Formats: sequence, C-alpha cells, structure tokens
Amino acid sequence: MRVYDLIAKKRDGFPLSKEEIDFLIEGYTKNEIDDYQMAAWLMAAFIRGLNEEETSNLTMSMVKTGKTIDLSSIKGVKVDKHSTGGVGDKTTIVLAPLIASIGIPVAKMSGRGLGHTGGTLDKLEAIPGFDVNLTSQEFIENVNTIGIAIMGQSDEIVPADKKLYSLRDVTATVNSIPLIASSIMSKKIASGADCIVLDVKVGSGAFMKNYDDALKLAQTMVQIGNMLNRKTIAVISNMDQPLGYTIGNSLEVKEAIETLQGNGPKDLTELCLELGIQILSLAGVTSDRNKARTILVDSINSGKAFSKFRQLIYAQKGDLNVLNNLDMLSQAAIRKEFISPSEGYIKSINAELVGKTSLILGAGRQKKGDKIDLFAGIELKKKVGDKVLKGESLATLYFNNPLVEQEAILTLGAAYQFSDLPVQEQPIILGTVK
Ligand code: URA
Repeated sequence: MRVYDLIAKKRDGFPLSKEEIDFLIEGYTKNEIDDYQMAAWLMAAFIRGLNEEETSNLTMSMVKTGKTIDLSSIKGVKVDKHSTGGVGDKTTIVLAPLIASIGIPVAKMSGRGLGHTGGTLDKLEAIPGFDVNLTSQEFIENVNTIGIAIMGQSDEIVPADKKLYSLRDVTATVNSIPLIASSIMSKKIASGADCIVLDVKVGSGAFMKNYDDALKLAQTMVQIGNMLNRKTIAVISNMDQPLGYTIGNSLEVKEAIETLQGNGPKDLTELCLELGIQILSLAGVTSDRNKARTILVDSINSGKAFSKFRQLIYAQKGDLNVLNNLDMLSQAAIRKEFISPSEGYIKSINAELVGKTSLILGAGRQKKGDKIDLFAGIELKKKVGDKVLKGESLATLYFNNPLVEQEAILTLGAAYQFSDLPVQEQPIILGTVK
C-alpha cells in the first residue's frame, strides 16, 4: 500500500477500506508516515467527508493504537459523559457527584485541553491540594469504596488522537464532523465505559455553529457508539451564550458547588438534570423521565449530591475548607466591573468572544504546556433577555496581570448586542439523539 494512493483516493471522493485506514493510522502513530502526507489526507477527508463505515473504522483504528482501560473490577453499569466543549462548561463537576450519589459508579477520566479555560482537571485543581494523579489501583479502589474518582486521562490511551489532533489544529482540519466524531468516540471507547452520554454543544461558543451540523455530529457519534456495542445517547445543548454565569477555573468550581447545593443557575441546573435523566436511563435505574428527574432533584435538595462531592474532595486530598468558604475560589488580585454602554435588553452574548476574553485574562492555554491562572475569569451579572441600564455592571473581570485589562475589555465589549424590545430567553436543551 502507498500513502500517495490513499491520499489520491480520498481526494477523488472514494471511500477507504478498513485495511487502508488501519495502514494510515498505524503508520502515522509509529512515525512511519510523515506529517505532510497525513496533512494532505486529512484535508482530503475534511473536504470529501467519510462515510459511516469509514468513520467507525477510523475510530477503531485509533483505539487500537493505544491501551483500553478495563473497568470490569468496578461493580455496576459504568456510564461516561462527554461534552464537545463550550464556554463556562462546568457540567462534569456537578454531574459526576450527582450521579454517584444515586449509586451509579463514576470512573471519570478527564483532560486539561486547550481553550478559553482549562479542562475539568485544571478546574478541580483550583481546590487546594486536589490530586488528579491517581494510580489505576487508587482510581478503581476509590470508585469501589465511595462510588467516584476523577483522574487524568492516561497518555497511553489513543496516542493516534494526540498526534492527529495536533496536526489538525495547525492545518485547519479540526472542524470536520467525522474527524471530531472519531476523535471523541475513540477516547470514550478506550476509556472502558459500558454506556456513553454525549453533550453536543451548538452555537457561537461551540465547534458546531448551527443546529443541523450539531445534529449530524450527534447522529454520527451515536451511530459509532451503537456499532461498537456501547449504548450511546446525545443531548444537543445551546452554547450561544456561556453556560451559567462564570467562566474561569476557580470561578466555575464555585458555581458548580452552588449548583450541587441547589442554588445554581437555571441553564446549568437544567442541563445537568437532562444529562442525568439520560444517564439514569442508560444505567437501567429508570427510563421514566419524571421519576428520574425527581430522583436527581431529591439528591440535590437532601444534600446527598453535595455530600458525595465532599467525599470526592476528601478522597483526592483536596482542602475541605473550600466548601465552607467559597471566597477561597475568587482570589484574583484585580477585579474590574465591565459597564454597560447601553440601556435595553440583552439580545446576545457571543460565547466565543467571552471565551476569548477569559483566555486573554489568563484562564486558558493557547498551546500545550502553557501555564494557566486558576483565579482569572469572568462573572457575568446578566444573561440574554435581562434588562440593563446604561452604566450598570454587565460582568466582573478577575485577573492578576494588569497588562491584559485593555484587550480583555475591548474583546468583551464586542460580545454584546442590545435590543430596545424584550428578548425571549433561550432554551438550553435543543434535542436528543438515541
Ligand atoms: N474534542 C475532541 O476530543 N476532538 C475533536 O476533534 C474535537 C473536540
């Protein structure tokens, strides 16, 4: 087989066989195929697309390049949740203890990632002492004793994805539905869960900017999951404005804790309940939506979910004082109010620009290995549909580096649109694919 022929075949719009995809992915992971040839193939795949069979073959080829985690020593149905990524997305920090408090084992492997803020691991590290570097044995033991553990994803899982993603990132080939679907699903399959719940985001702060593309991505991932014997459901959720009111690592943990205590923002709470309803269904607890909702709401209201979070923090050596003193999570040296230039109703808050502001303030990474400022971020005071007076604060910026203020304010200013007429609140859940 010659790489040249496989590039030409995809360029001309023909599907590749399983053996041909295996050849490409294995060869690239073992450094037997160079970046320039793989980049050409990725661009051909980006433009021509991959059919269903090619996409699930690509997923399995990627899985085979690394280790697969064996969770069979954990009792019960293991359900994994994954978000395609959004601004202010602290869902895992709420959902993981909420689900564990109901008796569903949560063996969660998370990432750090690039972007507007860190990933779930970075966010949890905003709790002083919190240790995400568990051994596999500690991880399994914690799930078997307290029902929950969260650790960093092993480097040995899907090494092909790390190489491919870095190449896609610099060759304008990230935003392809089959490439995103196989990247996400390969990691989920290798992580060992029995069932997978996907949160596919759509809107200005997401990879997918319109509903049809999000639906296609959701359908593609659900098909891959089902073809590979993992029960998979996708929820399509709105990412046209940031989720909740906070963006930034420690600020997001604070909001997640408030949500676990029953005082969270409506959109975040609703999304966690919807994902929870789907998880309860996949785990065989109940497929009655009303019953599932009652179980989840009761767990929050009774304090069970929050108490599970406390157990998680304790087991992973985090400072429990944070839970009684949430101000420990908003410690940036500089706070600046962002003042409304207009009077009216907020028509839109571009999530991508809010995310960019958060990155400028220091909360995220531009490239792998960048240091992030855990206390930097934004707290919105108003969301879409809210009425605002000229001169009123729209948001508080938190940062430690005074040099970033000007650029952050300019960027955030471009995110807002106002209307003289009342604006309808946006729904958070837009669809489900089973
Ligand atoms: N998240 C992933 O893990 N992979 C992609 O390709 C896009 C988002």
